[in-house]
Amino acid sequence: MSLSFHSKVDIRFAPGEIKSTGGIIKAAGWQRVLIFTDRRLKELGFSRRLKEIISKNNLTVEVFSGVKPNPKKEIIKQGIEKARDFEPDVIAALGGGSVLDAAKAAGIWYSNPEKDLFQLKDPGKRKNPMLPVITIPTTAGTGSEITSWAVITDPGTPAKVSIGGEKMTPAAAVIDPELTRSLPAELTIWTGLDAFSHALEAYLSKFANAFIQDICYLAMKRLIKYLPRAADKGENLAARSEVMLGSLLAGWAMENAGLGLIHGMSHQVSAFYNYQHGLTNSLLLSPVLEYNCEYCKEELQNLTDLFPGNKDFLESMERFCNLLGFKKELEIKSTDLPRLTVQTLENVNSQTNPRKPSAREVEELFCRAFKIKE
Ligand SMILES: [Fe+2]
Repeated sequence: MSLSFHSKVDIRFAPGEIKSTGGIIKAAGWQRVLIFTDRRLKELGFSRRLKEIISKNNLTVEVFSGVKPNPKKEIIKQGIEKARDFEPDVIAALGGGSVLDAAKAAGIWYSNPEKDLFQLKDPGKRKNPMLPVITIPTTAGTGSEITSWAVITDPGTPAKVSIGGEKMTPAAAVIDPELTRSLPAELTIWTGLDAFSHALEAYLSKFANAFIQDICYLAMKRLIKYLPRAADKGENLAARSEVMLGSLLAGWAMENAGLGLIHGMSHQVSAFYNYQHGLTNSLLLSPVLEYNCEYCKEELQNLTDLFPGNKDFLESMERFCNLLGFKKELEIKSTDLPRLTVQTLENVNSQTNPRKPSAREVEELFCRAFKIKE
């Protein structure tokens, strides 16, 4: 048995943990804090509350609330302009995956302004480490709170560009399940299924090992048991905490083992049509797993007891997803299929899929998962 894994993020996990954010920043010696968030969280008062918490420690705080779903380079640029005016020592990223990714992208671009953001995809082009980023997730699914990756949309192609690895790890993750209590059921399910797909894809990844697979198993076990409860009763803090822990474990596994074809395909679709990431993934879960299953029979067999009383993991997983009731048809244009396919084959996530797909197979999978519009 040969194992390899790492974790460099200072992780704090507890209901109410957001209150410790100012203390963490103060202890690190940082004085000026730029909160990254989105309009919805600003309107809900989340960013105001965080600003108050941090300010109590005699720190100077500003807020950038311009992040949008599937963030584009333009948004990152706006955040950087705010940062240039304010000159922060640290970014506190408060939000879902889009906010956390935007903050990390802004952090590395701010430190390396002589390069274009997408040039920084190449670790060799990053002279300086990322401006420190503290992540405070408000959804349970992204995993971005502990990963060294930021996924940013290039609207020109359009494509999602993964920038990450070396010098992009968050300094700390403040994980507070209470922040997810107001998340609507639909978003709870979509983000939860994103976490589930992280755990499943990392488990089947070519870079997985026994330790990572055990982590993935525990993540899926939690999500299967508690995601329906969290979606049914949003105020259920115990269920919210379990789902958030499942998401954290899945994020840790994906950071160490990579993902697979679900994310390789999903990122392209979201870049073209701005679809919600978790929803897009969940439509790809069954088709891609069915496609992969001949190549990972034993691994899938080892997952059957996640659904007690059932012998077939794929069937049980489909039933689980259907019971959650997330289904929503998404369309893609037939004329976009060739480019979606080429970009999928080039995407970093596709490289760790257990089965190497051909262009024809990827096109067929797109046709199975989505409604094709002529
Ligand atoms: Fe994801």
